[in-house]
Amino acid sequence: MRVLVGCEYSGRVRQAFRNLGHDAFSCDLLESEDASPFHIQGDVLPILTDGWDLAIFHPPCTHLAVSGSRWFKDKVKEQSEALAFVQTLMDAPIPMIAIENPISVISSRIRKPDQIIQPWQFGHGETKATCLWLKGLPKLTPTSVVDGREARVHRMPPSPDRWKERSRTYQGVADAMAAQWGTPANE
Ligand SMILES: C[S@@+](CC[C@H](N)C(=O)[O-])C[C@H]1O[C@@H](n2cnc3c(N)ncnc32)[C@H](O)[C@@H]1O
Repeated sequence: MRVLVGCEYSGRVRQAFRNLGHDAFSCDLLESEDASPFHIQGDVLPILTDGWDLAIFHPPCTHLAVSGSRWFKDKVKEQSEALAFVQTLMDAPIPMIAIENPISVISSRIRKPDQIIQPWQFGHGETKATCLWLKGLPKLTPTSVVDGREARVHRMPPSPDRWKERSRTYQGVADAMAAQWGTPANE
C-alpha cells in the first residue's frame, strides 16, 4: 500500500508502516529525525495528488488546540489559515485518511472527531487526549491498556525542543495504526 504520513518529522508512523512492508513516506517542512531516504522534506500540499492509498496527517495544533484558547482572539487569521489547511487535508483525493490533533477547534469549526484515543490504551502510562477524524478507516482498537495516568508532557521543562517532545507520535499508537490500517502488503 502507498502510504503518506504528512506533517511528521519523527518518522514513527512511516517506519511502523514500512516495517510491515508498505511503501510509506513521511513528509514535513522539517528534516526527518531518522535521516530516512523515505522522508520528503517540504510542503505536503503539492503531493496530495500523487496516488496514495492511505494518508495520516498530524497538522500543527498551535492555533487550534483548546489548551491555547486564551490566545485565540489575537490569532484569528492564523487560526482560519490552520483550519483551511486541515480542511484541505480532509478533502484530499485519497481513499483512506486519518487526521490527528489534540482537543481543538476542529471539532466545533469543521466536525466532531470520530474517536478520541489515549496513550494509556496503547502501552504508554500517560494521558494525552488525541482526536482522530477518519475517512474510510475503522476506529483504532486499543492494543495494550496499562496503568498510570501521568500527564508527562505538561511537566516538561521549557526548552527549544519542548514542542517536539510533546508532539512526537507515541510508538504504541504508530504501531497500532500500521497494524490495524495497513492491509498485509503481501496479500
Ligand atoms: C504537531 S507536529 C507533528 C509531529 C508528528 N506527530 C511526529 O511524530 O513527527 C506538526 C508538524 O507539521 C509540520 N508542517 C506544518 N505545515 C506543513 C506543511 N505545509 N507541509 C508539511 N509539513 C508541515 C511542522 O513542521 C511540524 O513538524
